[in-house]
Amino acid sequence: MELSTTTFPPGFLWGTSIGAHQTEGNNTASDWWLLENSRGSGVHEPSGDAVDGYHRWAEDLQLAARAGLRDYRFGIEWSRIEPVDGRISTANVQHYARIIERARELGLRPLPTLHHFTLPLWFSQGGGWRRSDAVERFLRYVDAVAPVLESGVERVETINEPNIVAALATGASGLAQGLPVPDRAVTDAMIRLHDATRDRLRVNHPRILTGWGVSVQDYQAEPGAEHVLHAYTYPRDEIFLEASRGDDWVGIQSYTRGWIRDVGGRPQALIDDDAPRTQSGWENYPEAVGGAVRRAARVIGGVPIIVTENGIATDDDSARIEYTRRALLSLRQAMDDGVDVRGYLHWSLLDNYEWGDWGPTFGLVSVDRGTFDRTPKPSLAWLGSLAPERTSGRAA
Ligand code: BGC
Repeated sequence: MELSTTTFPPGFLWGTSIGAHQTEGNNTASDWWLLENSRGSGVHEPSGDAVDGYHRWAEDLQLAARAGLRDYRFGIEWSRIEPVDGRISTANVQHYARIIERARELGLRPLPTLHHFTLPLWFSQGGGWRRSDAVERFLRYVDAVAPVLESGVERVETINEPNIVAALATGASGLAQGLPVPDRAVTDAMIRLHDATRDRLRVNHPRILTGWGVSVQDYQAEPGAEHVLHAYTYPRDEIFLEASRGDDWVGIQSYTRGWIRDVGGRPQALIDDDAPRTQSGWENYPEAVGGAVRRAARVIGGVPIIVTENGIATDDDSARIEYTRRALLSLRQAMDDGVDVRGYLHWSLLDNYEWGDWGPTFGLVSVDRGTFDRTPKPSLAWLGSLAPERTSGRAA
């Protein structure tokens, strides 16, 4: 089957995702900034100016819109909105409101993410998600960005990959070796935070549709290990999917596959040394997204799915197109089998800061890190050429 503008239904979300810290540059009030610039932290490279997205956001919107994309997921950075405990930066609230306004002028539907791994340093140094007032402080930030959300946002993602936040809280890193069991206290904190944020948005902005983006990889049991698969997936993603049942939509962020084997009655991720790998070290397995949405659909009880991240780290753009083509076909097949998917947002619009590393390039657009000049890769026009028709109604 070949892909075309009619492969996905009219109104299907079609676009890209970026994160605030990975693109903006100089997020000096964030905990990650301190980590990147501290000796012995284990962070390989700092974000620095990143790709200067803080100043070049209008160009990025333009690139996406000109390519024919319809939807634009981007991050609002809490540490810019509230750089000091209790002090709101009105200028930065206006900065993000301008992004929303310009996106709409260009015909892009903006989808902001409120939290994507970085925290204001003051919040983090005061205990981070383990603080007893974590929810209350986050809601104050949510209230502070009300003017941004009122500038014409249809959907909000509360938290990017709460399960990775909880997994990183254990001190481990990386997906390539399998994901550690997320920290239970942080898991509970993420769920509480998400519920409270969704409820606050429903009261204050009843037109906005709320969800979060869970990292869901295509975990598959080795033959004979089917009985331990759930023990692996439940704490790592399904507990978060279960918690999404009252949401307006669920974001699925999927990149790769993981094989699970039975080791003495316990699940363990298996590394297949012969599998083709991407620059991130993950198995190059484009059909992962199809498997991920199928498994998610069994847990979320009818809530519509939006793929809020999917992509490949490669310096070969034709490999990116091939990965994405197969990923989209696997998504279409899952939909044909009854999975309710309402959109696809590719990670990422830009080559950007990959959490401690500038090596892996996920972008549809490359960025010269000396001049910050953007150069679209063929994959940008290719993805744009497949945009489904617009509708005036809502997709999810
Ligand atoms: C994260 C992104 C990251 C991407 C690729 C996701 O886990 O949300 O921030 O860049 O994966 O590693």
